[in-house]
Amino acid sequence: MCGIVGVIGKKNPAKIIIQGLEKLEYRGYDSAGIFVTGKNKQDYLVKSKGRIKELKAKLPQEINGEIGIGHTRWATHGRPSELNAHPHTSEDNRFVLVHNGVIQNFEEVKAKYLTNYTLKGDTDTEIVVQLIDHFVLTEKLTTKEAFRKTLAIIEGSYAFALVDKEEPDVIYVAKNKSPLLIGLGKNFNVICSDAMAMIEETKRFVEIADQELVTVWADAIQIEDAKGNLVRRESYEAQLTLNDIEKGTYPYYMLKEIDDQPAVMRKLIQAYSNNQQELTISQEIVTDILNSDRIYIVACGTSWHAGWVGKQMLEQYTSTPVEVHLASEFGYNMPILAKKPFFIFLSQSGETADSRQVLVKINELTYPSLTITNAAGSTLSREAKHTLLLHAGPEIAVASTKAYTAQIAVLAIVAKVIGEAKGNLKALNIDLVHELSMVAQAMEVLISRKEVLEEYAQTYLEDTRNAFYIGRGIDYYVSMEAALKLKEISYIQAEGFAAGELKHGTIALIEEGTPVLGIITDANIASHTRSNLQEVETRGAHTLIISMSGVEKATDQLVLPKVHPMLTALVSVVPCQLLAYYATLQRGYDVDKPRNLAKSVTVE
Ligand code: G6P
Repeated sequence: MCGIVGVIGKKNPAKIIIQGLEKLEYRGYDSAGIFVTGKNKQDYLVKSKGRIKELKAKLPQEINGEIGIGHTRWATHGRPSELNAHPHTSEDNRFVLVHNGVIQNFEEVKAKYLTNYTLKGDTDTEIVVQLIDHFVLTEKLTTKEAFRKTLAIIEGSYAFALVDKEEPDVIYVAKNKSPLLIGLGKNFNVICSDAMAMIEETKRFVEIADQELVTVWADAIQIEDAKGNLVRRESYEAQLTLNDIEKGTYPYYMLKEIDDQPAVMRKLIQAYSNNQQELTISQEIVTDILNSDRIYIVACGTSWHAGWVGKQMLEQYTSTPVEVHLASEFGYNMPILAKKPFFIFLSQSGETADSRQVLVKINELTYPSLTITNAAGSTLSREAKHTLLLHAGPEIAVASTKAYTAQIAVLAIVAKVIGEAKGNLKALNIDLVHELSMVAQAMEVLISRKEVLEEYAQTYLEDTRNAFYIGRGIDYYVSMEAALKLKEISYIQAEGFAAGELKHGTIALIEEGTPVLGIITDANIASHTRSNLQEVETRGAHTLIISMSGVEKATDQLVLPKVHPMLTALVSVVPCQLLAYYATLQRGYDVDKPRNLAKSVTVE
């Protein structure tokens, strides 16, 4: 999704803005732009479709100024183009604005206030900058007053940074539902969608709450609520180092993040262990879950897939029924809820708008909720009653890997702790610290065999138009995630199927050479999945079997080290991640930045 950066009070804002935009590239974008101005009144507005490197190529050698804003755009209203790229300017070019989010009533605003304006592009954002201009000109408001009045009129989600060329010592910012932070420096300040973008400049940040308006000078900031009352807020230090966000010797972040997974498992054991080396979570969370009669897991994409594995673990260990829902469906199609529901929001970024709109409703209904996220201080974390962190470190590749396995591991810890509190025998008997350590070791074994997966990607996925992953139970849930990994970065049309369901229709797609990848980790259903693989093989499919030691056959292409039956997903997904990675490399695509996708989807 769109990314925003801004700098005020630094000599070379363009350089800092470009570096910041590059760090936000992971969020996904299709065009970018930058605006710089200063006391010398000379200003630069440069925009480009495509990558930041194309924007960079268009920038003049020398850019003088002390204030600037930059933007990466992920198109919602208006095609990706230079014209629709941000920053947007008012008709008289006085006001310059960048925006992340969607203005829902932009058509109405346009019809009501802006009939005299000639719009330059097709974006909803342009309406906002023209409206500010309109109020300054027609009602003789100050820029801040006009901005506040505009914020009261528009509906939707936004993070804005606004510059008035006639006030070249200030940036006005505001947010509602979309993320934005202020970074504090010595005689300079910055703004950014994610602390990661500005971590080279400062580690000290201030959060902005929805509907606040912040005035940012080089040496001060002033936060006001929607009514103009001053708000005091302490800054915090971001727990992030430059090292965390660099890929070092790795060619791609995705490969680094796949390799990070054993370390993340160990980090989680540490983070959730008490002095007696027992796994623990806060007593308030335990009490709320024990008091509930049904758990609802709400998530999107990869997190939703992790939710399915979580359902299995939670039901088996806590005997509480669990439902897994897509956030984008749940919000507008809410099922009949149990009497005492407990909500778990799974979100790597903690910013996903689809999940957030559900949380807003859940909060209105006053049901207890827990966000499991990688981003401390994110919107979903702040707005849920409880938070558990994934401790996975920044995940930068769009295709989620270590956040998925971290989510499953945290859900396993929740299932174990709640199960124990309920006296569930399975929960009492599992030594989860030991079993998660075994998972970390098994992951290491697989990671050390990358060349095998590289070869399989070549043999099974080269030149194919489509591919299927199949499995049963947990293996089915992993199949869905494996297929998503493959399709989102390699653009192979991939689907994950319940092995037994393939024959009820989809088998019609099997042709000579169609790759069907089977995941088999559970002894109870192994023979059934093998039969399904047989069925497709006799119809010409090119089958690859990933099985777990203990249920393997000599002909299986990859045998996974054995881990506890509840935790097999953590291991079986690793070769699937690597297959997706290598298939993408072999096709010559950018692994970390797949087309059309965004890492943090902040629009519904
Ligand atoms: C986007 C990303 C996916 C991710 C999904 C949910 O679609 O491209 O990789 O799984 O959002 O994101 P979240 O941050 O809520 O886990």
